Amino acid sequence: MRNKRKIRLGASIHGVGSSHTAWQHPNIQSDASVSLDFYTRQAQKAEEGKFDFVFVADGLYINDKSIPHFLNRFEPVTILSALGAVTSRIGLVGTLSTSYSEPFTVARQFASIDHISGGRAGWNVVTSPLEGTALNFGGKPHPAHSERYRIAEEYLEVAKGLWDSWEDGAFIRDKESGTFFDPSKLHRLNHEGEYFSVQGPLNIARSRQGQPVIFQAGSSDSGRNLAAKTADAVFTGPDSIEEAKAFYKDVKQRAAAAGRLPEEILILPGIGPIVGETPEDAERKYQEIAELVTPDKALEYLGRYFEHHDFSQYPLDEPFPDLGDFGSNSFRSTTDRIKKQAKEQELTLRQVALREATPRTSFIGTAEQVADVVQQWFEEEAADGFIVGAGVPGGLEDFVDLVVPILRERGLFREEYEADTLRGNLGIPVPANRYAKQA
Ligand SMILES: Cc1cc2nc3c(=O)[nH]c(=O)nc-3n(C[C@H](O)[C@H](O)[C@H](O)COP(=O)(O)O)c2cc1C
Repeated sequence: MRNKRKIRLGASIHGVGSSHTAWQHPNIQSDASVSLDFYTRQAQKAEEGKFDFVFVADGLYINDKSIPHFLNRFEPVTILSALGAVTSRIGLVGTLSTSYSEPFTVARQFASIDHISGGRAGWNVVTSPLEGTALNFGGKPHPAHSERYRIAEEYLEVAKGLWDSWEDGAFIRDKESGTFFDPSKLHRLNHEGEYFSVQGPLNIARSRQGQPVIFQAGSSDSGRNLAAKTADAVFTGPDSIEEAKAFYKDVKQRAAAAGRLPEEILILPGIGPIVGETPEDAERKYQEIAELVTPDKALEYLGRYFEHHDFSQYPLDEPFPDLGDFGSNSFRSTTDRIKKQAKEQELTLRQVALREATPRTSFIGTAEQVADVVQQWFEEEAADGFIVGAGVPGGLEDFVDLVVPILRERGLFREEYEADTLRGNLGIPVPANRYAKQA
């Protein structure tokens, strides 16, 4: 029997929220970004909804203009290890930068989470947009956008190679003969490349799902190519269904060109659904969050995409300033989109800033209406699933309690977990160990 395509769902746990002012909402726990209790409740709620995974974003540079969640938050690998112990089926996906870390350490960390959780780990590969990050890591200049992606590609080759250090069954642990491992199943990577020199082997075996699942976030041309070659899933932030469909088609085509099956790479837009008892109730929830954002805070939010540029120097109600190439070395795909939209739609600085800081989601309305939009994006191949963030307080709970049952009734989402590994639930293959003899 042919398996019907099913929606994949992740829950982005983002502490006090993704804007400068969300934390001021009366229903937001103001220390949520460093609350194990909050993260545990969110992960368990997502697991109750049979979500595929929880997702933790990250960054490595802050200043006094950063959004409150970024100022004081958990490091992803650490919090995911803790969540592994209080959940049993849901995947655990965390963000880690290939520009500011070492592949041996990171391969080992994710392999460890994979073992701790019984095969539920995923790594969201990012390249770190902000130049200031370099100031925290030894002072070498921030690599340019294209170089960051070249580093990321080699880095992933090394990490994947290290994960294959031990073939399955290498650890015999025979007390009588004193044989702990089979040396024929131990492999050194001996990688010598442009950016990394890593001998191996890694000091941890493959997990039940073979290797952690690779997510990728970064939507520029270079980002899409990296995803097409190496990622199992892509986190993206499209503005509209049209943009999402074009991205979906493009990345699947790139994956096919790289010799992969298009269904082996999942496209997962991030969304912040707002569910109300009536359409007006949902609108009220949106307004409550939007009204907290002052023009000053909106400008700070916008500035972060452009290396924390000070937009307060420009008149608010005049056309969006001409920034030339500025921004393309940081959040390139995002800054390109902002500049393009501002020009095409003749937007003022105020309009651009408010749009970015308080985006009005298409996933808003009653539970039925939100389910309709989810279904439409899925069926029209704008998405294979979604990473659900809390657009408003209680957003994840509303989605799990009210929208997921409708998706289930429509046969679009699972009743029960199919597997107990992340790969198993996502329906993506376990990669063969490169050294294992073909049977
Ligand atoms: C949807 C999305 C999510 C991202 N999440 C993160 C993140 O959590 N941490 C981070 O450092 N960068 C994140 N990035 C930034 C990218 O990894 C990358 O450094 C930057 O966007 C430039 O790449 P691009 O031009 O290919 O998008 C994200 C980018 C996108 C598009």
